[in-house]
Amino acid sequence: MNEGLLSVVSRPIALITGATSGIGAEFSRQLARSGHDLVLVARDPFRLECVASQLRVEFSVRVEIIVADLTQITGLALVEDRVCSAKQPIDVLVNNAGLGLRLPFDENTIDDEQGLLDLMVTVPMRLTHAALSQMVQRQSGTIINVASIAAFIPRGTYGAAKAWLVSFSRWANLHYRDRGITVTAVAPGFVRTEFHQRMGVTTTEIPNFLWLSTAPMVRDALRDVARGRAVSIPSVRYKMFILVARLLPDRLLHSREVFANQ
Ligand SMILES: NC(=O)c1ccc[n+]([C@@H]2O[C@H](COP(=O)([O-])OP(=O)(O)OC[C@H]3O[C@@H](n4cnc5c(N)ncnc54)[C@H](OP(=O)(O)O)[C@@H]3O)[C@@H](O)[C@H]2O)c1
Repeated sequence: MNEGLLSVVSRPIALITGATSGIGAEFSRQLARSGHDLVLVARDPFRLECVASQLRVEFSVRVEIIVADLTQITGLALVEDRVCSAKQPIDVLVNNAGLGLRLPFDENTIDDEQGLLDLMVTVPMRLTHAALSQMVQRQSGTIINVASIAAFIPRGTYGAAKAWLVSFSRWANLHYRDRGITVTAVAPGFVRTEFHQRMGVTTTEIPNFLWLSTAPMVRDALRDVARGRAVSIPSVRYKMFILVARLLPDRLLHSREVFANQ
């Protein structure tokens, strides 16, 4: 589609954090396919431009990029400003950027732990606040918080941060639904992305059947989002896992080292 035609078509806009890889890249792709213009956020400018160009060509959508380290005040402020925009409001916010730490809590530096908490709790909390400032006025909006099944089992500060996202989303979905806004926490199991490689952990001990591919995982999540669900657990196998896990004592789940890096 040429720029002239693009300018007269008004499409909903989705902003995705961590859009250059894995789950965030797949959300970007599926949202573009379903007719959203995009705002992509990550730190690496080269990868951002590559992903943006591919999506522009493949889906004829507008794609803005914001190069920002969300753990830095200036980077986060840039994205908050864009999310607050009344002129070009964000219809769908996907709080996806996240990381895992390889070592147990006491062996990580406190700065690394603070970075994890900032990226996975403070950032989605602030971006949700910013998004609501215009969504409440417009009585419309969709917020997706990418959590993890680690939210439901004892998994250090990573699981605790994801549990915050799930708990917050459950409350916010109830609280804002009458104003046309849905908030959904998506809690996947193991997904094939760069996540574990970035953490510096091997994944050879994780059986094949526990791995999800990004495309069906995100498709499941978006179906639950469309239904207005507060929590989405993609795939039947992980829905079953959570049902069973809720019945088991923490001691047993803690000893299942296969889930240590989820
Ligand atoms: N993979 C799994 O097994 C799994 C399972 C459950 C939940 N999750 C969750 O899914 C989400 C996405 O993870 P993924 O598996 O897709 O990981 P990934 O492939 O490593 O992608 C992470 C994305 O986040 C961006 N990012 C990282 N730190 C950032 C920062 N400080 N500021 C801005 N952007 C940043 C990265 O781009 P740059 O490096 O360019 O910034 C990249 O685009 C995370 O919240 C993770 O906790 C993953």
